[in-house]
Amino acid sequence: MSPTFRGRDYISTQDFSVRELQSFINISTELKRKFLLGEAHRLLQDKTIFLLFFDNSTRTRNSFEAGITQLGGHAHFISADTSQIAHGETPQDTGIILSRYGHGIAVRHDLEPYQGNKYIREIARHADVPVINMQCDIDHPCQTIADLMTIQERFGTNPKGLKMAVSWAYAPSYAKPLSVPQGLLMLMSRFGMDITLAHPPEYALMPEVMDTARQNAEEAGVKLDVTHDMDEAFEDADIVYPKSWGALSLFSKPEEALKLSKKYKNWVCNEKRMQMAKKDAVYMHCLPADRGNEVTDAVIDGPASIVYDEAENRLHTAKAIMALTM
Ligand code: CP
Repeated sequence: MSPTFRGRDYISTQDFSVRELQSFINISTELKRKFLLGEAHRLLQDKTIFLLFFDNSTRTRNSFEAGITQLGGHAHFISADTSQIAHGETPQDTGIILSRYGHGIAVRHDLEPYQGNKYIREIARHADVPVINMQCDIDHPCQTIADLMTIQERFGTNPKGLKMAVSWAYAPSYAKPLSVPQGLLMLMSRFGMDITLAHPPEYALMPEVMDTARQNAEEAGVKLDVTHDMDEAFEDADIVYPKSWGALSLFSKPEEALKLSKKYKNWVCNEKRMQMAKKDAVYMHCLPADRGNEVTDAVIDGPASIVYDEAENRLHTAKAIMALTM
């Protein structure tokens, strides 16, 4: 394995070159092969990773826990609510102390805009071990690298020229983080995909993230278009990725947020919309999906859906991130 990854934090895909990101996927593919063949791959024998969560999780928690076990190590699950963090212990002290007990720290802190990434970077500033972002307010780099791996499995290792539609979709739920669409925009453009982002006017992504995504697109020579029309985004797309996220100004106003979202109940991914995309287009979602609102059962359970491949690849990519950095 390349020594250049050892000890590095994995907080945003922006912190890595395209070549390095491709290495994460190549190692994920190799670990997937070993997992499927039942070949031992105990690359992190007796190592410990701390998984600190400020929010719920199914895929992220279990891909890291199962992953470190398969690599020969062990995970400690820490809920922010039941640790001394709830009593005000700082990220500095948490980072220093956990790094004296083990070999890696992973954090999910995604519910409040402009809080999570800052917190994770503060842990990383003080920790002596690699820090992994399991989703913050800005990026979800463990999800997007798994998504990229899934796209490469489906379309080949050079996805240049594919059109990806990243769209807001309606869900009558809490304000979900912006980090998945933001992470997709930042990452996929660097791998040569043209992206159309669609959202109602009130659901703009963070302006500084849009600046980064636009710069990435310009450097890669690809298109990054923004529209307020879901149909326009789906037109001729190879990949559609519709999901709900919150309005940035309403995260602390849940009743207003819910009222606003109801204006856009027709932002649903259904069979009619899928027909606007290319014939062999794929439907993607990080999950959990709000069935019946964000997407119909016919689409998510239909032939275009690759959501379970994405979810499966969360295991292999989590293992690659841990194996390379820890
Ligand atoms: N996609 C994803 O991060 O899933 P969880 O919230 O279940 O971890």
